[in-house]
Amino acid sequence: MDRKVIVFIAMSADGFIAGPDDDLSWLSVVETPGEDYGYGDFIQTVDTVIMGRKTYDKVLTFGTGFPHKERKCFVVTRTRAGKDENVEYYNGQLPHLIALLQSQEGKHIFCDGGSEVISELMNHDLIDRFIISIIPVFLGSGTLLFRNGRTRQNLRLQQSTTFPSGLIQISYDRER
Ligand SMILES: NC(=O)c1ccc[n+]([C@@H]2O[C@H](COP(=O)([O-])OP(=O)(O)OC[C@H]3O[C@@H](n4cnc5c(N)ncnc54)[C@H](OP(=O)(O)O)[C@@H]3O)[C@@H](O)[C@H]2O)c1
Repeated sequence: MDRKVIVFIAMSADGFIAGPDDDLSWLSVVETPGEDYGYGDFIQTVDTVIMGRKTYDKVLTFGTGFPHKERKCFVVTRTRAGKDENVEYYNGQLPHLIALLQSQEGKHIFCDGGSEVISELMNHDLIDRFIISIIPVFLGSGTLLFRNGRTRQNLRLQQSTTFPSGLIQISYDRER
């Protein structure tokens, strides 16, 4: 398949993508000048972004401008419709959106999260690659990346990289 659906996400060592109250401050434990953990190279390979409405709202609070202005961005939601200056709100079924995108020419498709959208995509086995940056911290509570209650999906290790900050990045392809 040419256009892969790829998750690129940071996760605490105990499996959370956000702490209580959407806290992301723990990501700072691996902040290193001049090190972007491959994000810059990765983002060049995608032209389309899918994210959940809660993740979109969180990104807007960073106050640094919307990072995907030159990409097509779909925000999955049941509560908003139409478009704004950054994104298109998507109210349909995620499998339909992925099928439509994969029927068109383009670069890879980045699923930015959060866990609700990733979970829905995984329920339909629609994620081709997971690039997970494990952050050396136990958060104890918050939003788990992987939810309970799914059937088994085998993975093939594509790459693993360790960084001096303690971050470990694993890249798994879904083995079909
Ligand atoms: N660590 C990281 O790298 C990372 C990356 C991304 C996100 N995050 C964090 O994760 C948290 C958000 O994750 P989350 O799981 O709570 O929320 P989310 O997946 O970002 O958004 C959930 C919302 O998306 C919409 N949605 C989800 N599935 C849908 C479906 N099948 N059909 C229609 N709409 C659907 C709903 O929006 P409506 O309520 O509008 O209907 C739902 O409330 C934030 O704290 C964010 O900062 C962390």
